[in-house]
Amino acid sequence: MQAIDDDGAVGVFDSGIGGLSVLRHIRQQLPDESLIYFADSGFSPYGDRSESFLIERSLVIAEFLRKQHCKAIVVACNSATAAAIKALRSAFPDLIIVGVEPGLKPAAQQSKNHIVGVLATQATLQSNKFQTLKNQLSGDTGTQFLPQACVGLADQIEKIELDSDATLNLLRRYLHPLLEQGIDTLVLGCTHYPFVADQIRQVIADSACPPVHIIDTGEAVARRLDKLIHAIPAIPKSVSRQMQRTRLTVFTSGQVVNVEQGIQGLLKLGAGEYQIFAAGETVLPISA
Ligand code: DGL
Repeated sequence: MQAIDDDGAVGVFDSGIGGLSVLRHIRQQLPDESLIYFADSGFSPYGDRSESFLIERSLVIAEFLRKQHCKAIVVACNSATAAAIKALRSAFPDLIIVGVEPGLKPAAQQSKNHIVGVLATQATLQSNKFQTLKNQLSGDTGTQFLPQACVGLADQIEKIELDSDATLNLLRRYLHPLLEQGIDTLVLGCTHYPFVADQIRQVIADSACPPVHIIDTGEAVARRLDKLIHAIPAIPKSVSRQMQRTRLTVFTSGQVVNVEQGIQGLLKLGAGEYQIFAAGETVLPISA
């Protein structure tokens, strides 16, 4: 890759507000970068969408982010990464593209009894990318991975219903079978789920099972982005551009008010700390 324009922003996207769990690590790791977050809430959830749909949405959003002068794009969604990371890298060879995937590798390294639960969407668990990684790591490390599709859980988090009975019932339904099979490690394979990590811990504690180690890859993704941005020679930031910069700009294909609730409720940001806009028709599906 040639020199990147250091004035460019880092674009981050997800089906909705789940990718904010990755964005919060990027803000910590790279405090001087301008960030643009795209919540594709008009088309969420991604978890039960087809691969071709996810590729199309990812390409449309990446093009939108490129037009906002992004130098890097973080696909802060396991489902979109599994479906579309290859297509994104070949369509945007001039951009740094970072994806997220369920942390099976750290889980296999850290599990003592080699029984690991994986919570993710159906789209992620059914993808070739996930199946290949799972089979390879099972063969190499003897780890038994127990995948659990969490239908409906991302929707609850989109509504910021973290502690509602409906959310806790879903968590019990998905976690109890894994706990009964003796998992000692649990991978959060969807970027929405770190927002219910406390509730997951509570369900595990209530079940009187031994403690379970929880793996979230958000911080590792931010470190990887940092490494890639600094590995490429940069055209220095202009002073005027630095002064104009807004730290966080948010766009959504859905309702601004819902995404704003997520930013304020989950990231605890005040109104002056970000700008938010409806993305409008620029991000409608190509086939619409
Ligand atoms: N947060 C996304 C993921 O990591 C997608 C959740 C959804 O929209 O179903 O897979």
